[in-house]
Formats: sequence, structure tokens, C-alpha cells
Amino acid sequence: MAELHWQGKEQVQPERISGHLHTRETYNGEASTEDTWQNRLIQGERADVLMALQAEFTGRLDLIYIDPPFMTERNFMSGSQLAYSDKWQGDLDTYLQWLAGTLRLLHTLLAEDGSLYVHLDWRVSHYARVILDALFGANLQGRGSGFQNEIIWHYQSGGRTTRRYARKHDTILFYTKSARYCFHGERIGEKRGAQKRNHMRKETAEDGSVYWSIASNGRTYRYSEESIMTPADVWSDISHLHQRDPERSGYATQKPEALLSRIILASSEPGDLVLDCFSGSGVTPAVAETLGRRWLASDQCNLAIAATRARLLALPARKPFIVQEIKDT
Ligand SMILES: C[S@@+](CC[C@H](N)C(=O)[O-])C[C@H]1O[C@@H](n2cnc3c(N)ncnc32)[C@H](O)[C@@H]1O
Repeated sequence: MAELHWQGKEQVQPERISGHLHTRETYNGEASTEDTWQNRLIQGERADVLMALQAEFTGRLDLIYIDPPFMTERNFMSGSQLAYSDKWQGDLDTYLQWLAGTLRLLHTLLAEDGSLYVHLDWRVSHYARVILDALFGANLQGRGSGFQNEIIWHYQSGGRTTRRYARKHDTILFYTKSARYCFHGERIGEKRGAQKRNHMRKETAEDGSVYWSIASNGRTYRYSEESIMTPADVWSDISHLHQRDPERSGYATQKPEALLSRIILASSEPGDLVLDCFSGSGVTPAVAETLGRRWLASDQCNLAIAATRARLLALPARKPFIVQEIKDT
């Protein structure tokens, strides 16, 4: 199988446990007395956090979404304060070593029927895809484990260059650990409707209801206008957060809740465990909470932890959660 090489790849040391999780804050919420689970917001570097979670959560995470640094070579601010630096001095080898180490740890934590979504852009998504193919499987026949989709999140924000086509999409890679995984296109799809959108033939039944039909390989497929279509892998219906968006917290690179809602609804069930180890403004835990999923969220930046804590506390209803940090062992 084709494989990606970078300088230093062969010298990868397995990550070592450098600390343990220490609870520093507890927030009560609505929970039944027999339910002892507490969601967790953890401050820490991703490898430290993911290693510290191994003992308890190996093979137990149902859904992971990550939106890591994209190798933009920029510093990102939250107001006047530095939120995080995405500067790598142009050293792609170092970045790939870091990304591959993260993806390996996530693969270990993922449940056998779990799903991973990795959010990147034009800079490194193609490298990530080859690394993920090696870890999960390239799934070239399309029916197995590993690669499921390259989702294109197309938006309109930002300026337009005159030097090339304007870069207006992020890439979200969707992988599953096995061929048996949770996916609910019907929860996030839209009705086929009565408007023509492709080459299907329109038929109107005696009662006035509309059907769409198409013949393929000697069979005719027929769909009611009421049937739900699984969304395609190009998403242009979710807007980037604009400056005055009420959802905007001021935290750099904040993603819209609609994006996470779609992913969480499609790839998890209520009560499932969701992880985001680059959780920034807290979009993943906030949406997971609202949709009744359990969650683990972490970030190394104290501004991110503060923004997420405030966001969770502002929710109208919430389960208990704790805030943890990594303490040296
Ligand atoms: C692109 S932002 C995530 C934004 C988030 N999805 C949201 O919607 O708000 C990346 C996040 O990764 C965090 N981060 C960067 N390097 C990290 C590391 N080595 N360990 C843990 N967190 C890190 C940054 O602090 C930042 O909050």
C-alpha cells in the first residue's frame, strides 16, 4: 500500500503518560441520582490529555471531531490576547509528526463502531488523508472500514484573489474504525420535494403526489417527494460565522454549531460519548450537550477553557460537568 514519508517518521517514539487528570472545578446540573457520569472539560496539551484518557477510555469513544491547527503559519487572537499559535516555521515534517501522533492516539481511543472527523483545509488535508488511510484503511471498494467521505464545507467568507480560484472550502475527512458504524443520513437530510433537481423523471399520481423515477442497470428506482435524501458530501448550506453573528464568542477560528449538529446527529446516538481535543470556543461540547450526548473536550489554551465553561454555563439545561487539568505524576 502507498504510504506517506516525512523526515523523522521512523524515529516516532510512542507517547508516554506525563501526568494524571486532576479535577479542579465541579458544576452540578440536571442528572438522575443513578447516573454518575460527569462530562469533562480538560485543560492540557493534546498528547498529555489523550494519554491520560487511555486507561479509562481506550476503545470507548463513539465519535471524535477535531479541528486542529491547519499549518497556517499564523497566530490566532481572541480579542487582544493570543489564543494559539499555528506557526511551524514552514517545517512540514514537524507538523506531520505532530499530526500523525495525534491521529494514532485518537485511533486507539475510538470504539470499534466509532467515527472520526478531521477538519482541515487545502494546506494539509491531502497528507492527513494518506496518514489516515494507513491507520484506518483506504476503503477503495467503498463498503468497508476506514475512509468514508471527504466532506467539502464550502463557504463565502473572506476576500477573493485575482491570482487563482478563490479558496472557499475546508475539508472534513470522515473515517470509521470498522464497517459497522452509526450513520443516520435521514436525520440530517431534506425532503426530495416536487422541484426538479436532476435527470429523474417526474410522475404525478392520481392523488396529486409527486414521484421521481430513474432506470439504472435494468431496474427502475422510484422515490416519493416526501422521501428524505441523504446529504451529499459538499456542504454549502452552512454559513461561516460572520462578525456580528450572535453565536460568535470572539474566540479565533470558531466553527458554527450547525456544522457540529450535522456531524453529531449523523454519527452518534443519544448517550454516546463524543470527544474533541482541540475544542476552542467549545462548539463540540455545547452541541453534544444540547443533543443529549456525553462528552470529553480539551484544549491547551486557558482562554478556550474559559470560553467553553462560560458557554456551557449559559445553556438553559445541562448535565453536570467537571473541569480537569493535567498534573505531573
Ligand atoms: C482551530 S481551533 C479550534 C476551534 C474550535 N473548533 C471552535 O469551533 O471554537 C484549534 C484549537 O486547538 C488548540 N490547540 C492547538 N495546539 C494544541 C495542542 N498541542 N494541544 C491542545 N490544544 C491545542 C488551540 O488552543 C485552539 O483552541
